[in-house]
Amino acid sequence: MRENLLDVENLTIKYKVKNGNLFFNRYREFKAIDQVSFNIGPSETLGLVGESGCGKSSLARAIVKLVGLDSGKVTWLGKDWTSSHASTDRKFRENLQLVFQDPLASLNPRMTVSEIISEPLENYRKDLSVLEKIELVKKSMETVGLSTSMINRYPHEFSGGQCQRIGIARAIILKPKLIICDEPVSALDVSIQAQVINLLKDLQKRFSIALLFISHDLSVVKHISDRVMVLYLGRIMEIANVNDLFSNPSHPYSQALLSAIPIPDPIREKERKRDNLVGDAPSPIFPPSGCVFRTRCKKSTNICSIKEPREKIVKLGHRVACHHVSDEESK
Ligand SMILES: Nc1ncnc2c1ncn2[C@@H]1O[C@H](COP(=O)(O)OP(=O)(O)O)[C@@H](O)[C@H]1O
Ligand code: SF4
Ligand SMILES: [Mg+2]
Repeated sequence: MRENLLDVENLTIKYKVKNGNLFFNRYREFKAIDQVSFNIGPSETLGLVGESGCGKSSLARAIVKLVGLDSGKVTWLGKDWTSSHASTDRKFRENLQLVFQDPLASLNPRMTVSEIISEPLENYRKDLSVLEKIELVKKSMETVGLSTSMINRYPHEFSGGQCQRIGIARAIILKPKLIICDEPVSALDVSIQAQVINLLKDLQKRFSIALLFISHDLSVVKHISDRVMVLYLGRIMEIANVNDLFSNPSHPYSQALLSAIPIPDPIREKERKRDNLVGDAPSPIFPPSGCVFRTRCKKSTNICSIKEPREKIVKLGHRVACHHVSDEESK
């Protein structure tokens, strides 16, 4: 059996929002993530996809302890990460890096590229001399396709794609075991997106780094992922290996997301029947009863509004949360 790098079990994240009026300050609690379980193995890329507001960033931030969990357990490198104390986390944390969505905003404008990329070295490799650190920064810049002549420049002097390369150079400098990429290409031009995805794919292979690759765009996720997890209103709708998900999506939400991906052939694109999603996702503050997807699901029946579907295993490694999908045991 493989040893996972990361094990997430029944993770729930709650937020409090103001829900009062001019005279009374009331707060309402809601679940941004509800009972989510998944794992990531060494050198594996897990794609995490779902519409805006479904909880992708909250999940990513909870894994790196930027957001507290309400319940559940995170095991990182075999250690209970949920209850461990910050002071004992250091040697585990250096193996877990983040790449953010907005490349420019995630870089400190007052720091040079050299200072930004060497940040993890300052935190975790205090044994290195200044010259050794500069050498590693230069190597990291070359690895991500940045000219070392720009080492003393500031972030505003770079394009969006270059800023994201700086963020990636910082994330890989310690050769971590896992990088969480939270919508790393969403803020970039389409032409640049492919370059950055190919760079991440290349680095992942070269250094055997695992990735949690987050995107709202299934077609982006398809190119980089080994497995894909589909999230809706903080719940997993489907998780499967990439080929199974794209050739045989079982959840009505995954089917609708896939049907929205344009086909490059104009004739087939014109002829195809679309299964468009109607309306916006409901607010997680007032989720629908039963299955949270039921208000947009064409296959919804009475049971869907009464009972929340449990996750069923349709095949080894392929889980689906839908009343109208039968699991392996019932076949
Ligand atoms: N700090 C916070 N306080 C209250 N609500 C939040 C907070 N952060 C995110 N949310 C809400 O939680 C939900 C999930 O947000 P987020 O994790 O950012 O989703 P995504 O990354 O998929 O767009 C959204 O409804 C968002 O408005
Ligand atoms: S449980 Fe019902 S509403 Fe939910 S996805 Fe399945 S068919 Fe649709
Ligand atoms: Mg987000």
